[in-house]
Amino acid sequence: MDRVTNKRGLKLSSLVHPITGRVCLYPPSFEQSDFNSALQYKAESTDVFVCSFPKSGTTWLQNIVWLITRFGEPIPGKVRNSMPMLEFDGAEQTEQFDNAKFPRIVKTHFPVEFVPQNTATRYLYIARNPKDVVVSYYFHTKGFEESYGLPSDFTVHDLVQSFLEGHIEFNDYFKHVSDWFNKRDEENVLFLLYENLIKDARNSILKIARFIGQKYEKALLESNGQLLDKILEKSSFKVMKNQDKWFVTKRRGDIPFIRKGGIGDWKNHVSSDDAVLIDQVLLEKGREIFHLWDDYP
Ligand code: A3P
Repeated sequence: MDRVTNKRGLKLSSLVHPITGRVCLYPPSFEQSDFNSALQYKAESTDVFVCSFPKSGTTWLQNIVWLITRFGEPIPGKVRNSMPMLEFDGAEQTEQFDNAKFPRIVKTHFPVEFVPQNTATRYLYIARNPKDVVVSYYFHTKGFEESYGLPSDFTVHDLVQSFLEGHIEFNDYFKHVSDWFNKRDEENVLFLLYENLIKDARNSILKIARFIGQKYEKALLESNGQLLDKILEKSSFKVMKNQDKWFVTKRRGDIPFIRKGGIGDWKNHVSSDDAVLIDQVLLEKGREIFHLWDDYP
């Protein structure tokens, strides 16, 4: 295992796929054995995977999937104990996986090449516009500044540079989103946009339920809107923001996990030069995904 510090001072673990030799960048405290263990996990046909690049609304989507498959019952304790994270919990540490009752909801930020494939498993992918991801990521690293070894003068610009260089956890954003986007027509893949969830959560939840399984959609349709209202409420930003008990407590107290949400906070934090740069790279590396946003933020 190689512990690397990128050019901007962000510490990461550089882990290597034992067969392909491909690198996956992890948060700094993780070891090669964590990666190996995750790679051994066999996706089951009843699993529902929630996949994303970090800071794209993963926890929100996990909560929605939980509420749909548990017919409105909220997550009982820590998110990690209810829904395992593939790259951290792996295949050997089965306690997390065993605790996750049927249907198991598995979170992963892995680039698609490392995600265990099973044609019967359902994979949901959520993408968010890169400028808001950068800002959310910046505050995330500040929240864990000690473990990332952040220099005290680490700025949003440093994060933008790391992001554009692909020297960030789970590798290059643009490739991550493009690779999943290219799988969007597969029957067992649902590609979602964070911005569409914000704009129309009601229809997004119905679409997700339909994708996960007919019985979930039926339950929503048969409850005269009551179950849907309950899910909408329990997955709302306001309610989720008050769920501190769901998350790790080691982060800096002034930077909550559920921070600001919404579309366009980048305008408050990203310089106009950096914003232009991010958009240029998006057009170069992911022109097809750029057109996903009717109204690109
Ligand atoms: P911000 O940092 O912009 O506030 P992830 O779960 O992938 O780490 O993503 C975290 C981002 O999703 C955070 O963005 C967080 O506030 C946002 N988020 C979490 N729950 C949300 C909700 N119910 N509605 C909208 N955004 C939500």
